[in-house]
Amino acid sequence: MNTNWEKLGYVDAPIEKSVDLKSEIRRLCKEKNAIILSHYYTEPEIQDIADFVGDSLALAQKAATTDADIIVMCGVHFMGETCKILCPEKTVIVPDLNATCSLAESCPADKFAEFVKQHPRHKVISYVNTTAATKAHTDVVVTSTNARQIVESFPIDQPLIFGPDRNLGAYINSVTGRNMILWDGACHVHERFSVNKLIELKKQHPEAKVLVHPECKGAIVKLADVVGSTAALLNYTVQNEASEFIVVTESGILYEMEKRSPQKKFIPLPPEEGTSPCNECQYMRMITLPKVYNSLLHLAPQLEVDADVSRAAVKSIHAMLDISEKLGL
Ligand code: 13P
Ligand code: SF4
Repeated sequence: MNTNWEKLGYVDAPIEKSVDLKSEIRRLCKEKNAIILSHYYTEPEIQDIADFVGDSLALAQKAATTDADIIVMCGVHFMGETCKILCPEKTVIVPDLNATCSLAESCPADKFAEFVKQHPRHKVISYVNTTAATKAHTDVVVTSTNARQIVESFPIDQPLIFGPDRNLGAYINSVTGRNMILWDGACHVHERFSVNKLIELKKQHPEAKVLVHPECKGAIVKLADVVGSTAALLNYTVQNEASEFIVVTESGILYEMEKRSPQKKFIPLPPEEGTSPCNECQYMRMITLPKVYNSLLHLAPQLEVDADVSRAAVKSIHAMLDISEKLGL
């Protein structure tokens, strides 16, 4: 069979066995002035070859300031979109464009636009885990690092809509005393963590600190010692003197936690029985070394964002970056 790899964006195009993927990826980056950005949820070998590994806020900040000509985003589709919106003149590659996000998918732009229209007095805050088209109906984007401070930057009597994560929205409502109207979306990885297994693990490890990402359900958040973004949880493990941590977020973050604190023990919380075999985001894990190599070699698949959507969405992302800079985040 004669496969048209160009049409398929060279994803899964065959690679000679003799190619040393890691060194070739680094060589191609240098030759083409490309930078590899990776989220903490990707496979360890992807984090190892990246120029920069970070949480959603840090990745957007890095994309906004890099002088590379090409950005290879080792993360999911919306992260690539954010890069392209911030740097329309650059080539932005996501090594597999099918790496989507269940949370972003839970908020279709047309339905969100209708929802926004029904609340004309409300300002609209959207989590960065949204499509560019949804961001186009947003006043300010937030990440889990800055959501609380950005919500608090609005006057207390300003009515707010928060989308798409109902868990993060409910958590922010609880810590700020606001009453934001929430879009009913969620991340399939963070929703399926088991409360019963967490209670069991806490009994087995009574000294362990419980680290929870705010995309988790309220019943899990209630049992946390600390609630925060991947970067905040990571910093806590470095700074806190505990020797054991129960980690309630996508398990890719354990790689960096173990690297930074090799003497400490990190225990990933499993999901509910019968949901999925593990607490991994299958979309993040679609980014593999062969795909990164092919993407750099062929400069494909490139991510494009419709110019009108980009123009509408960019303001909400810049609003977030500006507020974060003022707040020193
Ligand atoms: P942060 O990187 O903001 O912690 O978000 C986690 C996440 O789910 C990214 O998809
Ligand atoms: Fe989306 Fe959840 Fe995967 Fe993050 S972990 S990319 S929110 S599906």
